[in-house]
Amino acid sequence: MISHVRTNSAEQTRAAAARLAERLLPGSVVALHGDLGAGKTCFVQGLAAGLGCDAPATSPTFALLHEYRGGPFPLYHADLYRIESIGEFLSAGLLDYLDGDGVMAIEWAERIAPLLPQYTIHVRLRAEGAGDVREIEIEEPDL
Ligand SMILES: Nc1ncnc2c1ncn2[C@@H]1O[C@H](COP(=O)(O)OP(=O)(O)OP(=O)(O)O)[C@@H](O)[C@H]1O
Ligand SMILES: [Mg+2]
Repeated sequence: MISHVRTNSAEQTRAAAARLAERLLPGSVVALHGDLGAGKTCFVQGLAAGLGCDAPATSPTFALLHEYRGGPFPLYHADLYRIESIGEFLSAGLLDYLDGDGVMAIEWAERIAPLLPQYTIHVRLRAEGAGDVREIEIEEPDL
């Protein structure tokens, strides 16, 4: 199933993500695609809020993985911008998070495309013009 939403603010993007969060379970993987500043981290903030996690999802640009607790299960947030190979992902010990006890949200997920599970939810964000409008496509596999 593919759905589209157009948002006019970071707040609206977080709200769209919070609606998706209602359908996530431990083991869910959310792959986030989009250019720098498209709103991937913002979307993860909305997932965290929707899951009831209390820690704010700050941009993990200098850390590969951040953990958000406080909800019924954890949200793991990986930013693979600086990953140059799948080997780096594996040696960082991140593989287990794709099939773990929480939800895994991954920025720049195309870096590890061959490792993504079949049921990965793909979220594609695109800035529309120079302002605050974002086109968001959410592709959820049929179960
Ligand atoms: N409709 C919108 N949705 C999301 N973010 C928006 C929107 N309008 C404006 N913004 C702003 O765009 C920026 C998005 O930044 P964010 O860190 O989420 O992008 P990113 O895709 O994670 O970038 P990076 O690749 O650098 O990690 C924020 O400053 C946010 O406030
Ligand atoms: Mg980001």
